[in-house]
Amino acid sequence: DAVESVPALVVGSGYGGAVAALRLGEAGIRTVVLEMGRLWNTAGPDGKVFCSTSAPDRRSMWFRTRTEAPLATFLWLDVVNKDISPYPGVLDRVRYDHMSVYVGRGVGGGSLVNGGMAVTPLQSYFAEQFPTVDTAEMYRTYFPRARSMLGVNTVDPAWFESTEWYRFTRISRKHATNTGLKTTFVPSVYDFAHMQREAAGTATRSALAQEVIYGNNHGKRTLDKTYLAAALGTGNVTIHTLEKVRSISRAPDGTYVLTADRIDDTGTVVGTKEYGCRYLFLGGGSIGTTELLVRARESGTLPALDPSVGTGWGANGNVMLGRANHLWDTVGENQSTMPVMGIDDWANAANPVFAEIAPLPTGLEHWVSLYLAITKNPERASFTYDSGSGAVRLGWSAAQSAVSVGMAKKLFDRINRANATIYRYDLFGSGNKVFADDFTYHPLGGCVLGRATDDYGRVKGYPRLYVTDGSLVPGSIGVNPFVTITALAERTMARVLVEDTAP
Ligand code: FDA
Repeated sequence: DAVESVPALVVGSGYGGAVAALRLGEAGIRTVVLEMGRLWNTAGPDGKVFCSTSAPDRRSMWFRTRTEAPLATFLWLDVVNKDISPYPGVLDRVRYDHMSVYVGRGVGGGSLVNGGMAVTPLQSYFAEQFPTVDTAEMYRTYFPRARSMLGVNTVDPAWFESTEWYRFTRISRKHATNTGLKTTFVPSVYDFAHMQREAAGTATRSALAQEVIYGNNHGKRTLDKTYLAAALGTGNVTIHTLEKVRSISRAPDGTYVLTADRIDDTGTVVGTKEYGCRYLFLGGGSIGTTELLVRARESGTLPALDPSVGTGWGANGNVMLGRANHLWDTVGENQSTMPVMGIDDWANAANPVFAEIAPLPTGLEHWVSLYLAITKNPERASFTYDSGSGAVRLGWSAAQSAVSVGMAKKLFDRINRANATIYRYDLFGSGNKVFADDFTYHPLGGCVLGRATDDYGRVKGYPRLYVTDGSLVPGSIGVNPFVTITALAERTMARVLVEDTAP
């Protein structure tokens, strides 16, 4: 195919990509977004766009023959995962040696599959992680802008206290309170008015119908309904789906040249496209963007990239675990898939942890309290390039995960002691594994702000090349990350559109 030349290209349509696309479009700059996943707007034979976690089909995962859900087993039984046929499904699990990274695939990136928790980090921790960023300006301007654009709202406390759908959360809160720990409500991009109608039987159920990691058919304000809809509305933005960017180089005139593989529903490469652009924004996520840049530096297509590209990666200290409750502490057979509360022990300097109270909706009473703990794990890893295979590897080790486990265990040992309860041993495969420490929902870093880039996401050594996604965050942010990623992208775009795009 011939080279398609556009003023601006954006790689990826997650948070970082969506913010870039909207602000470029508003500035009157013609922009093409390249997204390797599909557009999720067409119903399947069952009348639904997405499948539920209880009945996954080919729409669930990115080119798999069997689903790979985070909870592998229940009562040690292999009842969770199902055989599926390969298809560009919405959730991917990218496997490295000792760490799997879950990511969303499709127009909207992670917003399609995530739990919708829209948390603004503690200002002091943000300042610690981003010492060169004007923190006051972030909290005055860019965090509020991000929350308002994303449609963040909070659960009605009275409804929360009374509904069966959050009984599981109230039980975990009780056990935290018994331990002397603090809990806090967390905002969400799931529309709670819709959720209350679901509970009342006046709206089609989504969060109340076990829909989340394979997509929500209703209720969630995903990026295709917020930033990306607005971007398309400018008339300047086009999104190309099922196009995976393979390489980036620079032409002698200083424009960027991208090669993208066009894939079909079977994953077969049906064509290759070349794009040329003056401005290039990378929003492929921590994994997607870092892999592209490490490969570009090491294979020599962008040789002047800073040595810090590919370093500073962390899993936001993620650890998942379950506790077994007493028989009288029922969690309910009905559970909303959208978490609304966390156990906040971040202020405990000896062992900072923020643990989200996670649902485990099975339609049965199971007495399990599930958590996704975010620990302040200081370990970081780097990516390396294998010139033989062209593969990019992540050097994260099992010992680095053990640091997160140690921190989560300290907190939950306290909770178990205070409530005379124990852990669940049956949820994460064979071997009585209590702490799932081999995957993350929160990949962060790889192209850290102020190291691989300047203080605004401009990639060092390459004018008009920008990173706007989770790879800017140095491995840890202490809470669920998408509000931070969105706010940082807003900050980058505000600066770049003023300073870099003069004709
Ligand atoms: P993001 O991953 O969103 O987008 C990258 C996009 O680029 C993807 O669509 C990808 O397909 C595309 N892409 C990558 N490489 C490409 C290439 N070479 N060519 C073309 N396209 C390419 N966070 C939170 O704050 N609250 C929460 O409740 C949760 N819950 C949660 C649950 C689950 C199951 C997951 C997997 C994740 C979460 N998260 C979360 C994390 C959150 O979703 C995540 O931090 C953001 O989506 C990251 O945004 P980015 O813009 O960095 O990339």
